[in-house]
Amino acid sequence: MDKRGKFIVLDGMDGSGKGTQLTLLQEKLAGQNVLFTREPGGSPKAEDIRKMILQTGGPASNAVCDFFLFWAARGSHVQDVVAPALEQGTPVLCDRYDSSTYAFQIFGEQAREAEWLKGMFAQIRNGLPAVYKPDLYIVLDLPAEVAFERRAKDQAQEKSKFDIKPLEYHQRVREGFKQFAAEFGSTQFVDANRTPEEMHADIWGIVEKALG
Ligand code: TYD
Repeated sequence: MDKRGKFIVLDGMDGSGKGTQLTLLQEKLAGQNVLFTREPGGSPKAEDIRKMILQTGGPASNAVCDFFLFWAARGSHVQDVVAPALEQGTPVLCDRYDSSTYAFQIFGEQAREAEWLKGMFAQIRNGLPAVYKPDLYIVLDLPAEVAFERRAKDQAQEKSKFDIKPLEYHQRVREGFKQFAAEFGSTQFVDANRTPEEMHADIWGIVEKALG
């Protein structure tokens, strides 16, 4: 019998309400043996890399550099934190994962190297040990314009260098998540242009079923 814990990712555009949904899931699953973790970050080394990637005002980066930094952080996070938990039978709920790398670094950035990065992504992903591959991605989907307004209103939230990209960037990120689902499967979209309670009802239904 496969005793491996389920690996579930919650992802979506900046401003999709993901943070609120994670808090609601944490409340719902309080006291249960579920590991909540996040990317970029989730292990000490990956948290170091997170600071390097997300800082505003530091040295300039680019899509290729970020692509590999996100994968480097992921290597530390999965080897040191996610895989040991899954192997002990603990389900893992991860805030963002490689779906974000695909949507932001490839589709959002549209760098000259985008086609090459797409090929690299497929190659990395297809060769990955099974423990790196989530059982399910839940992607919160909404028009980029609505997400943009939400981000503008949310003064309390610290803005990363991706938050402050123009609307067209986030429109491409939305398309990137759709392409990710078409290419790699295992993805369910949740309409994020609704109240947090409505979204939570759908997300909880999906998570409860996945956790079995
Ligand atoms: P964070 O402050 O964690 O924001 P959020 O609450 O929106 O998740 O910042 C993470 C940022 O990094 C977010 O803008 C998405 C981006 N990102 C990528 O561009 N590629 C990736 O592979 C990952 C994991 C995140």
